[in-house]
Amino acid sequence: MKILNTITDLRTELAKTRKAGKSIGCVPTMGALHEGHMALVKKSASQNDLTVVTIFVNPLQFGKNEDLDKYPRRLDDDAALCEKHGASIIFAPTMDSMYDTNHQTFVNNEALEGLYCGKYRPGHFRGVLTVVAKLFLAVQPDAAYFGRKDYQQAFLIKKMVSDLNFPVKVVLIPTSREKSGLARSSRNEFLSPTERTNAASIYEGLCAAHEEYEDEERSAEILRTIVSGCIDHAGGKVQYVEVVSQKTLLPLQGELTEKATILVAAHFGTTRLIDNLEL
Ligand code: PAJ
Repeated sequence: MKILNTITDLRTELAKTRKAGKSIGCVPTMGALHEGHMALVKKSASQNDLTVVTIFVNPLQFGKNEDLDKYPRRLDDDAALCEKHGASIIFAPTMDSMYDTNHQTFVNNEALEGLYCGKYRPGHFRGVLTVVAKLFLAVQPDAAYFGRKDYQQAFLIKKMVSDLNFPVKVVLIPTSREKSGLARSSRNEFLSPTERTNAASIYEGLCAAHEEYEDEERSAEILRTIVSGCIDHAGGKVQYVEVVSQKTLLPLQGELTEKATILVAAHFGTTRLIDNLEL
């Protein structure tokens, strides 16, 4: 497995792959890799001749008061995991090779501005879409792998690919969870043992709402209350619980008549966690 740090080196390496007619899968990440990320790597390795894992903590998607400096960085461990699960190249670009000091061009979708994570993390998705577009242009993969855990992100990336005609197949992978049901996340390591236990209430709440839905409950308000009640009860602080349209991701109110997903963000201590469940 090779570790490359500049777009030039990556392009030179991948030109050989493309010339040999081999397919390229790409798994964009910010590192601090765990089993959830590895599900993406394994899928890519099983569907492509070569898998590029990108590792870049993208400053553009972090707000001023967010955890950019605190974000865990451990390239050696990450590289070992990726190699074990079938990656051929790690692309860990330097800041300079990704962003010129005078970077001026951004990719943005305003559809979800002011909603859910877009409301609480202004500029976040603009940062995500911009870096993913840049990574797609650097790697030029046949397919790219993203987790359903970041539901809004996955929706916006699919939309970007379709709106801007990127020749990339986007493959979404189910959320990988700890035994307790807590969605795996690089941020879980910031939780104290008690917070980690209590944070399982997010998925418990989602499952409880799902059960009610299976029992014909169709009130968006009642389903939301079930989730937030469960998190409150465990000492978490709900930031938002929303029932949204799977088609548009816009919020749904009243009786549900279309396919919906519950989106949730909550704090346990100072750690902000997100999760979701399709109904
Ligand atoms: P990061 O949080 O490192 O996640 C990288 C990819 O792994 C994303 O597609 C994410 O949805 C997926 N992932 C994380 N935890 C997962 C889990 N428990 N189950 C399944 N998939 C999981 O998301 C980002 O980085 C960045 O925003 C990025 C897209 C790389 C742009 O900077």
